[in-house]
Amino acid sequence: MSTSTPIILSIESSCDDTSAAVLKGKELLSNVTANQKVHKAFGGVVPELASRAHQQNIIPVVEEAIKQANISKDAIDAVAFTRGPGLLGSLLVGTSFAKSFAMVKNIPLIEVNHMRGHILAHFIEDAHKLPKPKFPFLCLTVSGGHTQIVKVSSPSDFKIIGQTIDDAAGEAFDKIAKIIGLPYPGGPLIDQHAQNGNPKRFEFTHPKVSEFDYSFSGLKTGVLYFLQKEIKNNPDFIKDNLADICASVQHTIVSILIKTYRKAAKNEGIKRLAIAGGVSANSGLRKALKSLEETDGFQTFIPPFAYCTDNAAMIGIAGYFKFLDNDFAPYTISPQARLSVSSI
Ligand code: KG4
Ligand code: ZN
Repeated sequence: MSTSTPIILSIESSCDDTSAAVLKGKELLSNVTANQKVHKAFGGVVPELASRAHQQNIIPVVEEAIKQANISKDAIDAVAFTRGPGLLGSLLVGTSFAKSFAMVKNIPLIEVNHMRGHILAHFIEDAHKLPKPKFPFLCLTVSGGHTQIVKVSSPSDFKIIGQTIDDAAGEAFDKIAKIIGLPYPGGPLIDQHAQNGNPKRFEFTHPKVSEFDYSFSGLKTGVLYFLQKEIKNNPDFIKDNLADICASVQHTIVSILIKTYRKAAKNEGIKRLAIAGGVSANSGLRKALKSLEETDGFQTFIPPFAYCTDNAAMIGIAGYFKFLDNDFAPYTISPQARLSVSSI
């Protein structure tokens, strides 16, 4: 084993994706994810079903990741896993697997904070060869469970500058999609329909919150009341205006996200702006962030699609930085459903 280029097996099972990856140092060798279709019919993730599906998927997913990495199990120097935040039953599956693997092989175990993983995904070395942000930088983490502006001063120094006081941005996309009648997860579908719509057709009000925070629950209610009113006049209103509704909703969420992010960046005096998490796959958000390069001279960092939604590659790179610090977890460790990005 070379301490600067360890081979790390990483496991992610915090929500409804079972994922395993292999990294050699910062270089990604494989990243395999099994999505769970079982939740579609329920309009959201059902925790009990997610745990069961993780239990079924974890062995084949890990086997496939090791096969694609073209390494032997004996070459693995450490195992990194998502300790939290997430659904406890889901986290237990990945945690138990990682602990067992590390114990049997007598190798170090590394606990990773899922939200730090999303952010540190920017440092994965792969075929994209994208420029990496220098420290300190800001990251807007936007997922199904989180919406935060985080100041990242090093791979182990994270400070929350602002965050949502109610729903996360991804949750807003998914809940509004559900109101419109789109299946879970609705975020990517709103994005798809928005491509053909007019983003200025319908106007929704922005929330009033303290300077660097967010709120999305009012928007969800606003869209619901708006649609109920319109449907009274035209029962087919949603069907007739789907693209414009999606484009307008997306435009509103993206504008809210970017406006506050820009303000926070100016206040912090930081020019490097990244995005991370599932909603960073959104085409409107990617475009709006990029446009800040021209308007404000920011340097922006947008992750490849493969690292936006949940994946184990991001857990592997976060684990790599901890490996360099000899920051290992005891084999007695247990997962934590609630875990702040500033804590581990
Ligand atoms: O990071 P992630 O995979 O899981 C969590 O940690 O929550 O994020 C999932 C969220 C879901 O709310 C999903 O609807 C949203 O990311 N999402 C999108 C897009 N792709 C995924 N939202 C808007 N536009 C997209 N293209
Ligand atoms: Zn996530």
